[in-house]
Amino acid sequence: MTLSVRPIEPRDLEAVSKVLRDSWGGITVVALGRGELIDAAAQPGFVAEIGDEVAGVITYAERDSSVEIITIDAVVPGKGVGKAPLDAVRAVAVERGVARLSLITTNDNTHALRFYQRYGFDLVALHRNGVDRARALKPDIPAEADGIPIKHELELVFTL
Ligand SMILES: CC(C)(COP(=O)(O)OP(=O)(O)OC[C@H]1O[C@@H](n2cnc3c(N)ncnc32)[C@H](O)[C@@H]1OP(=O)(O)O)[C@@H](O)C(=O)NCCC(=O)NCCS
Repeated sequence: MTLSVRPIEPRDLEAVSKVLRDSWGGITVVALGRGELIDAAAQPGFVAEIGDEVAGVITYAERDSSVEIITIDAVVPGKGVGKAPLDAVRAVAVERGVARLSLITTNDNTHALRFYQRYGFDLVALHRNGVDRARALKPDIPAEADGIPIKHELELVFTL
């Protein structure tokens, strides 16, 4: 079946919220490194669909000189449903004329680190114990994943 990508519309709220809840335990995420809670479901973004099914979701926020990825989730792994919506956000950033895409992931997320670096993102900073600070805002961030304590924030940038 064909993979297609389109902007999130109001009618997608339920499906997008489900993806966010399944992945992040809720629609509110900590904007890592910023010390603020963000309603990810209220952000602009794109859905990747395989047939009529939502297979991937990306949300982003427009900053002064960058576009920041807030969440990215492939419901179906290994089918390009992470990359395709990321391409769409990249096109938004090019259209806006900003210098970069930015995002933050966590030290445990080796698959995401692999994905981002293969895409062309570069690591620009390590925020030691950044997740400990984020937990003060969102206490349900798990203590570990994949047997790795979740502690640090890793900042990556894709230069446009
Ligand atoms: C990070 C994440 C979005 C990456 O998704 P992904 O499925 O690995 O990445 P893609 O959707 O681009 O798929 C890439 C893989 O699909 C394969 N693929 C199959 N068909 C494809 C197609 N039509 N187009 C592109 N890639 C395709 C690629 O070869 C690649 O496989 P490889 O990694 O073995 O080389 C996903 O792991 C995820 O949702 N993780 C959980 C949430 C999360 O941690 N998000 C990041 C928080 S910072």
